[in-house]
Parts: sequence; structure tokens; C-alpha cells
Amino acid sequence: MKTQIGIIGGGPSGLLLSQLLHKQGIDSVVLEKHSRAYVLGRIRAGVLEHGFADLMREAGVGARMDAEGEVHTGFDIAYDGMRHHVDLKGLTGGNSVIVYGQADLTRDLYDAREKTGGAVIHGVENVQPCDLTSDNPFITFEKDGEKQRLDCDYIIGADGFHGVSRKAIPRDKIKEFERVYPFGWLGVLSETKPVSPELIYAKHERGFALCSLRSQMLSRYYIQVPLSKTVQDWSDDAFWAELKKRLPEDVSSQLETGPSIEKSIAPLRSFVAEPMRYGNMFLAGDAAHIVPPTGARGLNSAASDIYYLYHAMLDHYKKGDDAGLENYSQKALARVWKGQRFSWWMTMLLHNFPETSGFDRKLQQTDLDYLFSSDSAMKSLAENYVGLPF
Ligand code: PHB
Repeated sequence: MKTQIGIIGGGPSGLLLSQLLHKQGIDSVVLEKHSRAYVLGRIRAGVLEHGFADLMREAGVGARMDAEGEVHTGFDIAYDGMRHHVDLKGLTGGNSVIVYGQADLTRDLYDAREKTGGAVIHGVENVQPCDLTSDNPFITFEKDGEKQRLDCDYIIGADGFHGVSRKAIPRDKIKEFERVYPFGWLGVLSETKPVSPELIYAKHERGFALCSLRSQMLSRYYIQVPLSKTVQDWSDDAFWAELKKRLPEDVSSQLETGPSIEKSIAPLRSFVAEPMRYGNMFLAGDAAHIVPPTGARGLNSAASDIYYLYHAMLDHYKKGDDAGLENYSQKALARVWKGQRFSWWMTMLLHNFPETSGFDRKLQQTDLDYLFSSDSAMKSLAENYVGLPF
């Protein structure tokens, strides 16, 4: 089998790149380990930067996002029993975010690839990117027990944090930077009316909490939890009771509870691998970097990699200009690190750190006081939240 771009990973990054390239007449094949149903069953983030939404439209897959996604022009931070509004639109001169679930967006991308005969091969095993530093890289894999080979000009490693792509890079050619946080997020999805039309991030002495949503009938809530407990330790009742304790009274009194339709604990981690290129393989999204979910940057950071890769591929195939490919890692990482900084800062600002000294606690309170009293600090938060320019 032969194609121009071999993409490892059929999540949103790989599919979006494949769809964008298809619109420009550039051929790709997407290899995905799991079934389509499995990929769509993963509950992930739901906040899209305005630049990411534009990229979806450019790929011709923005219609459902625009019809069913909700434009959010602000959110609240609850602290000390008070709610502080972050007016994203006012603070950024008109920008906002769209709340639209990753599963919905991925389904739209699958539908688009299917409609145009795009090659997405599910259920592949033993995937291995090969000959990465040659002009003829290829990917070997097994499908239904049969060994196959995909020859390509370039390989994209968009197969997530645990994928094979990053691991195919020799250890001495890649540097990893990591911070692991001493807690996780317990998340619940429930078919209840969201407690607030906008997101509420809550800093409380019992720990962080977040009220989010997928639609006006589907709520997504999170609480900070110690990693010593498992999801089985949390009954729905225990979850709702703890969430209520961490929200201001005017919010908790309005909270509609119900059975969870999904419940899971995610650890919080910051991670970056540099560079994001090895020979003719380019890494994108979680394969190269992970953020804690606090700033809603994960999917957005992946989309920014795809933006740079897409334009680099266009310049290569349409103009014979390889500058974008040469600069990809440097450009992508500059923006990735800004997303890392913002996610780390939001995480440090809003969580309880069990081992923290009195000095650090004072600094955290001061950071919050400064934020709520300074228009410049609020502007900085807002411009990062809606997404920095590509
Ligand atoms: C979510 O809705 O899943 C969500 C929203 C905002 C975040 C993290 C997660 O910062």
C-alpha cells in the first residue's frame, strides 16, 4: 500500500489532518488500533478555542459544531463563597470558545472521511514506523492477522501518549519534560440540566471542583480527589455530596443530581517531548505533550500542531517549500509550551496541594486576589483561555 502521508492514530488530530489534506488533494491513510465505537466512547474535553473551530470549518466539518455547539463568552471562578466572572469576550476584544464534546467532533470527522472515501483502517495491530531517517519511510502493521506495509513520504505520529510513534525515536534523540500532580480528577457525566449555562471553576479548601456541560441536558462535573482512592470508592451519592460542599451556596442549592452515565478518575500530568520531529516522522497531540485538564488546553494544543503540520504540508506539496516542515517542531513547541504554562498555572491556582507549605498557600491566595483585582491579569487569563494566535 502507498500513500503520501501515513497517519498513526485515528483520534481527532489524525482525522482532522487527514480531512484537511484531502480537501487539498493530498492523500493519506489513517491507522487506528481501536474500533470506531471505542474511539467515540472516550469521554474527553469539550472546550474548543476559536482558532480550532475555524480549522474545523476549513476542513468542511464545522456545520454540526456550529449548529449544536454552544458559544461561551465567559465562565466563572468561585472562591471564598464568591463567583468572579471572566468575561472572555470583553477581555479579548470579541473572542469566545465553543463547548462541543470531543466525541461529537470526532464523529463528525469520521463521517466526513467516510463520505469522501477516506482510508481509515481500524483494528490494526503491531504498528511500527520504520526507516524514519530515510526518504522512503514506511509503516508495518497487522490487520486480521495479515502483515501489511504502508509506504509514504511522511509519517505523522498522532497515536497518543501511550502510542508507538514517540517510542520509535531513539532515546538519545528525544528529551522528555514532566510534572506529575499529587491528585486526580473524578469526572461524572449525567443526564441532568447543567447547574449553570457557563462553566464554573471552583477553588475550595476541600479541593477543586468544576461544573461543565455537553449540552443543556448533559452535565459534566469534576472534583479533585486523592489518587489513593479508585472510582469504585465513589458512589454517585458520595460524588454529589462532595461536589455540593465545594460549590458556593447559590450554586449547590440549584444542583440537579442524577445517576452517572460515565464516571472515571484521571491523573493530572504535564509532559512535553522535544523535538516533535525525527527524520520524516512528525509527532502531534498527546503523542508529544500532555496537559492537566484545568485550562482546557489538551485537544486545543493538539489542534495547533495540526494547524502547523497542515500548512507545512501544503507548502511542501504545492510550492516545493520545506521551511514549514523544517520549522515545525520549533514552531509547534513554542505554542505547546505556552499551553503548558497556562495549564500548570491554572492547576496551581485552583487545587489544594496536600504537602504545601504556609508560604506557598499564601502565594496561591495572593495570586487569586491579584487576578480578581487586576484587569491586566484577567486579560491574560482570558487571552490564554480563548487560545493564543497560531
Ligand atoms: C469538560 O467539559 O470536560 C472540561 C471543561 C473544561 C476543562 C476541563 C474539562 O477545563
